[in-house]
Amino acid sequence: MDTWLVTGGAGFIGSNFVSLARKSGLARIVNLDKLTYAGNLDSLDRVQGDPDHIFVQGDIGDRALVAGLLATYRPQAIIHFAAESHVDRSIQDPTAFLTTNVLGTMVLLDGALAYWRTLGPQAAQAFRFLQISTDEVFGSLGPMDPPFTETHPFAPNSPYAASKAGADHLVRAYHETHGLPTLTTHCSNNYGPYQYPEKLIPLMILNARRKEALPVYGDGRQVRDWLHVDDHCEALCRVLAKGRPGSVYNIGGNCERGNLDLIGELCAALDALLPAGAPHKDLIKHVTDRPGHDRRYAIDAGKMKRELGWEPRMTLAEGLKKTVDWYLGHDAWVDAVCARGHAAWMETQYANRVAAPAGEGRA
Ligand code: NAD
Ligand code: DAU
Repeated sequence: MDTWLVTGGAGFIGSNFVSLARKSGLARIVNLDKLTYAGNLDSLDRVQGDPDHIFVQGDIGDRALVAGLLATYRPQAIIHFAAESHVDRSIQDPTAFLTTNVLGTMVLLDGALAYWRTLGPQAAQAFRFLQISTDEVFGSLGPMDPPFTETHPFAPNSPYAASKAGADHLVRAYHETHGLPTLTTHCSNNYGPYQYPEKLIPLMILNARRKEALPVYGDGRQVRDWLHVDDHCEALCRVLAKGRPGSVYNIGGNCERGNLDLIGELCAALDALLPAGAPHKDLIKHVTDRPGHDRRYAIDAGKMKRELGWEPRMTLAEGLKKTVDWYLGHDAWVDAVCARGHAAWMETQYANRVAAPAGEGRA
């Protein structure tokens, strides 16, 4: 069986990926995660007791640790999820974003390169470094613009997006300069189980459940392209198995929604699963917009379909229902996450946002 070094495997997408990889017997997993506020061992319940899942708490920026793990476990691939991932936090303080997303990725690449150079020709050819990136590096689209393709120029607008763009450039440079067999993916907005409730969908579910306001930034007409995390993880397996070294792949759900429309669909799912007397959408409250808020993201995932035969499988209606169901049925996970500083974040981020007129927002 292959061994993969996964970074950030206790986060939202990483934990779903690790669980899928182990359930499908794809590889032994060495899971390196710092356990920041967003990392959570409870999200690894599906691999608890699995001897082929090895968890290591540590920082991707720790050179000696990275070198030691690579020398000890000799993986066939590195799958790099670890990052600071929330745009609003990057606006409040970008330091950790630059440290982990840029410098941490550089340390990981250095370790990968040194290790890769010790491999024999066959193993070196088969080795892969998979950089998990985001559509946010491309910036914002106008309403009539075609979706982002892999060659769309980078124009990151938030410190988070800028830090991911920096990391992506480094990955590209290690391929061009040293021949390291890298792969990069740009994915759209993920949703599903185990997502930290600072992100839109879980935050709305938790607030709705408590009958608290659903804070919509600005006019709520910003557009995102939604993909269930299971579909994303399957796409990543496909890229690992069949992607061409040095290539970039865009992954998306073909599922553009305005935020207000998405929240409307989410509220309808909540009304069905958790009847509350009044419709949950009555809790919507427009608040001060996010500075520099990107208006629209949309992904052209045609290359994934043409070259790797991948397409998303889950519909948004099905995915939202499953996600609401999951959050309503996992009180212990939710309570443990909320007990670890979530209330402080909600206070910092939302207490001073004032009610915004529904017309507010960047054109
Ligand atoms: P997340 O915030 O839920 O998880 C990040 C994980 O990385 C956490 O477990 C955290 O403890 C770990 N981590 C952070 N800094 C670390 C460090 N220095 N060393 C080791 N571990 C560290 O993030 P997510 O939403 O699961 O996103 C995972 C990756 O996918 C990120 O690279 C993100 O940019 C990318 N991405 C996310 C989305 C999305 O919609 N969530 C979409 C496209 C791409
Ligand atoms: O596009 C991929 C990106 O998607 C990933 O790279 C990021 O890691 C991930 O966080 C996500 O970024 P967004 O900024 O799009 O996700 P978020 O869930 O924070 O917000 C989604 C939209 O909802 C966005 O337009 C902002 C808006 N929003 C968000 C929150 C938290 C609100 O209106 N109210 C809120 O309270």
